[in-house]
Amino acid sequence: MIKETTDFIVIGSGVAGLRAAIELSRYGDVTVVTKDIPTESSTEYAQGGIAVALSDEDEVGIHYEDTLRAGDGLCREQAVRVLVEEGPELIRELISWGAEFDKEGSKLAFGLEAAHSRKRILHSKGDSTGKELERALISKVRTIPNIKRLPFAPAIDLIVENGNCFGAFVALERNPVAMLARATVLATGGTGQIYTITTNPQVATGDGASIAYRAGAVLQDLEFVQFHPTSLFLPSAPHFLLTEALRGEGGLLRNVKEERFMGKYSPDMELAPRDVVSRAILSEMQQTKSGHVYLDIRHMGEDFIRRRFPRVYSTCLRYELDITKDLIPVCPAAHYHMGGVKTDVNGRSSLHGLFAAGEVACTGVHGANRLASNSLLEGLVYGKRAGAAAFKYSVSKSEVKAMEKRVELKFLPHSIPDHDEIRGDLRRTMWQKVGIIRDERSLKEALEEFAGWRYILEKSFFTRRELELKNMIQLAMLITEAALLRQNSVGAHYREDHPQKTGDWMKHVTFVRGKAVYLED
Ligand code: FUM
Repeated sequence: MIKETTDFIVIGSGVAGLRAAIELSRYGDVTVVTKDIPTESSTEYAQGGIAVALSDEDEVGIHYEDTLRAGDGLCREQAVRVLVEEGPELIRELISWGAEFDKEGSKLAFGLEAAHSRKRILHSKGDSTGKELERALISKVRTIPNIKRLPFAPAIDLIVENGNCFGAFVALERNPVAMLARATVLATGGTGQIYTITTNPQVATGDGASIAYRAGAVLQDLEFVQFHPTSLFLPSAPHFLLTEALRGEGGLLRNVKEERFMGKYSPDMELAPRDVVSRAILSEMQQTKSGHVYLDIRHMGEDFIRRRFPRVYSTCLRYELDITKDLIPVCPAAHYHMGGVKTDVNGRSSLHGLFAAGEVACTGVHGANRLASNSLLEGLVYGKRAGAAAFKYSVSKSEVKAMEKRVELKFLPHSIPDHDEIRGDLRRTMWQKVGIIRDERSLKEALEEFAGWRYILEKSFFTRRELELKNMIQLAMLITEAALLRQNSVGAHYREDHPQKTGDWMKHVTFVRGKAVYLED
């Protein structure tokens, strides 16, 4: 087996991974490992923007309160404080590195999204904010010679000995390579692909959380999956995200009879929290026996729509939908995972030498429901913090050299001939039984179905598709078990059989290698 040694490994190349790599590059050589091309991450597709308290009418204290309210009582307050307080400086830094945000005159322009009490969403080229962030960060990375990028290298597993992480095994052209490092940062993003309907890109298969779980790291809050209310619903098109900023600018929801309906569900109407809007849409879909509702932005006028939402406009036009004139068919879609690898506010996981940042991590910043557009900011703030902490922790080069002599691959690769079929079945089951609305029966049925694939978890694979499937199965099981354990409804987790916030609702479901426990914190 090939063995390679570097100072630091970052797995993932979205905003959190790149920001961590930039931080770490001050202290040594960094290898950024990605399973696809470096720009293929959820960051690249983020539309609405990045929330930050920088406008004249805003304050970090208000951003803090809004984040806590959206998190529905389960945010870790210290993590939220770090986010809102350090965010503005990191945005200024990003601008100094060349990131461009939209302006009104000479001042930054701020948009509104659900559950924000102020306009505080920075955006770029209207609705291409993530793409601009990724561009600026990759440009910065290109100027740093000691950051190496290694594309098309899916992670197989972490290299762990006695609770210490020394890097990862990755698959390079189907050959396993032991990448050893003084510290490892996981920044693999989210998990939306375990659902049939998702706004997430193909790469979002929950790899980081599954790999960390197998290595013995603590995972938390897995039952909290956020569903975005509005993804494009067209038979010929992918479930493209229709940014919440469309509703922030006055977009209306109508059922297929073209009636507005949000008034029946929330005084906040179209800008109610995402879980409320998603359930309202489901209810309307059921009542009208339809697979979608409509988003109506026609009243905003063609000039405004084309200027403010050029990406949404041109994407829909590709599918012969003119959003300046037509109602837009939409349905909810899996969008963001609040749970993940449990970390402290410095990105430290429960394993020595393993750090996590961005969507794969559970800092507690989002609680039970993420405030819209907080995730890019989280990637920046916690990517930097994880990088700094990984350096502080890092073991000596001689320890890594000693490990290099000991490390061996104890497994042989297998294959799963019917992996596409299993992937489809898994995604459907998650959507139907572990989706926006769950109950004990649906969750137990899902677990029964997953049990048939348990054998896959015992095997090793060297191809991306098979590694992904193993990770998807692992995480699907854990999410379902967590959802079954939480016998109450909080934030994005809605149990039809336990619709209230009762009992142990303030506790967090936490996993360590198969043991599920409720913790007090
Ligand atoms: O609707 C959006 O543009 C999504 C934003 C987010 O999930 O943060």
